[in-house]
Amino acid sequence: MILIKQLNCCFIKIYYLALTYHNKITKLNSMNRFQLPDLSYSYGALEPYFDQETMHIHHQRHHQTYVDNLNKALVDTRIESIELDDILGQVSQYGSAVRNNAGGHYNHSLFWEILSPTPKTIPTGRLANEIDAVFGSLDELKMRIKNAGLGQFGSGWSWLYVKYNGTLDVVATSNQDNPLMNTQLASRGVPVLGVDVWEHAYYLKYQNKRADYLDAFWSVLDWSVVEKKYDRIIDKLI
Ligand SMILES: [Fe+2]
Repeated sequence: MILIKQLNCCFIKIYYLALTYHNKITKLNSMNRFQLPDLSYSYGALEPYFDQETMHIHHQRHHQTYVDNLNKALVDTRIESIELDDILGQVSQYGSAVRNNAGGHYNHSLFWEILSPTPKTIPTGRLANEIDAVFGSLDELKMRIKNAGLGQFGSGWSWLYVKYNGTLDVVATSNQDNPLMNTQLASRGVPVLGVDVWEHAYYLKYQNKRADYLDAFWSVLDWSVVEKKYDRIIDKLI
C-alpha cells in the first residue's frame, strides 16, 4: 500500500514537471512567434531619398517594437496560433494592442519589401494595364497616392490595394490600420503598395515636408515587387 502511494506521488510529480516544461516551451515559442524581417539592402542603400539614420531607427526600433508588442499581446490574449493575415481579417474581435501591433508588423514588412536601391521605376504587364484602366495614367495614380498620404491627418498609411472584386483602388488609413482589416468596411482588399506617412518615416530628413518625402518614395519603389503581388492576387481571383 505504501509502495503504491509512493508510486502515485512520483507519477504526479513527473506529470506536473512535464506540464510545466511544456507550458514554458509553448510560452517561449509564442513570445518569439513573429520576427523582425531582414532587409535585402543596407540602411544607407536608399540614400539620398531615404536616409540611413531614419532607415536604421525605423527598422531596428519602430518595427522591432511592433513585433515585440505583437508577440506579447498574442500571449496575453491566448490567440498565438493564428496566422497574421487571419488576425487582420478578424481584427475587430481583438483589442487595440493586437490591432496596432499586428498592423504595424504587416505594414512595415510590406513597406521594406517594395523598396529597392535598384528599383523598376515603371510598371508593366497586367498591373500597368489595370492602372491605366482605373486611374487613366501612372501619373494620376501617383497623384492619388500622394494626396491620400497628404490628406491623412496625423499618422497613417497611403495604400494601393486590390478590392475583392479584383479592381484597384487607393485609400488612406489611420495609425497602423490597413485594407486587410475587417474594420475597413468601405475599403477592404489586399494591399500591393503602402507608403508609411508616420513622422518617424521621414522627419529626420524631411521635417514637416511630407510632400517631399512622398515624392522621393517613387525613386525607391520597386514596381517589379508590386507587379508580383498584384499578379498573385489576380491569379487567385480568376
Ligand atoms: Fe513606420
